[in-house]
Amino acid sequence: MGNSKSLLNKEKKSVESRSKKILKSKSSSRQTDSKNFFEFDADLNFAICSEADRLFTLHLFVQHVFDGRFSAPIESKLRNGEAKVLDIGCGPGAWILEMATEYPSSQFFGIDIADAYPTENCPNNVKFETRNVIERLAFPDDYFDFVRIALMSSSLNEQEYYDAICQVLRVLKPGQYIEIIEFLLPIHNLGPKHKTIDEAFQAHSAAYGINLRMARKLESMLETTKQTNDIESMTRTVQVGLSGGKAGKLLYMILDTFSLELSKNGIAASLGLSLEQYKDVWQECRQEMIDYETRVSIKKVWGQKVVT
Ligand SMILES: C[S@@+](CC[C@H](N)C(=O)[O-])C[C@H]1O[C@@H](n2cnc3c(N)ncnc32)[C@H](O)[C@@H]1O
Repeated sequence: MGNSKSLLNKEKKSVESRSKKILKSKSSSRQTDSKNFFEFDADLNFAICSEADRLFTLHLFVQHVFDGRFSAPIESKLRNGEAKVLDIGCGPGAWILEMATEYPSSQFFGIDIADAYPTENCPNNVKFETRNVIERLAFPDDYFDFVRIALMSSSLNEQEYYDAICQVLRVLKPGQYIEIIEFLLPIHNLGPKHKTIDEAFQAHSAAYGINLRMARKLESMLETTKQTNDIESMTRTVQVGLSGGKAGKLLYMILDTFSLELSKNGIAASLGLSLEQYKDVWQECRQEMIDYETRVSIKKVWGQKVVT
């Protein structure tokens, strides 16, 4: 624990954001040169400077902890079968672009309420659209071979989340797969200052009907639809910081930027803190995450749409 401060400084000291360079311009050719983009060695010597950076870092984290881009048994269909794939809440589209490059004979669709995805120079087998998943999805019934929802539990209330799952099952072909990824909260081993901020975030979310523990309900939600079988799941737990290896480092960066972002969303005010005071408290939380060996779990659930 003695040299954890210098380790922390090391994590944050990078002078330049690699992902910022890649993602900063939507028309950047590098952004849609997915081969180069996604094969970068992720030496993690970058700082998160924007929401797009944070989402890209989340993408790297998810892919790393689950050791791949998907778990449902769809590989051969993607490779051979001109599969149609949908990513709901696709963010800047990192997963879609990577998948489209790996499986050029399949078609990939990304929808998001915000247009952070690239609009130019996308691979031919990619289509992004600005859509609200709460509204009816503009796709026919039984259309997709694989649909993914990742990290949307802080954006949708419980009913909206369930409705989104039902919509996915409508547009999914019978016998094909839905896959969902969410952080499995609560965070474990929080230090006292971090716990206060976390509780304020939970209260803030609850006021909007957001259930941050949605990950615990994913299987039961899928079962409730009576439209899925063979439901499987996988959970990974990561220690925040260098002790957690590459995943821990990514997680540290994600939590760090997310928590500073929270200050702007009324969390500082709800704690009676000015933004400056909040930042000072967060500075202590950074150290707490290392000292208390804070751990975060993430869960993936997938299931097959029933064939009637
Ligand atoms: C935490 S990000 C996750 C992005 C991406 N799925 C990933 O795993 O990196 C949540 C995404 O959901 C999108 N989103 C939020 N509400 C939405 C809605 N009602 N319909 C579609 N997208 C939505 C946000 O714009 C954001 O890009």
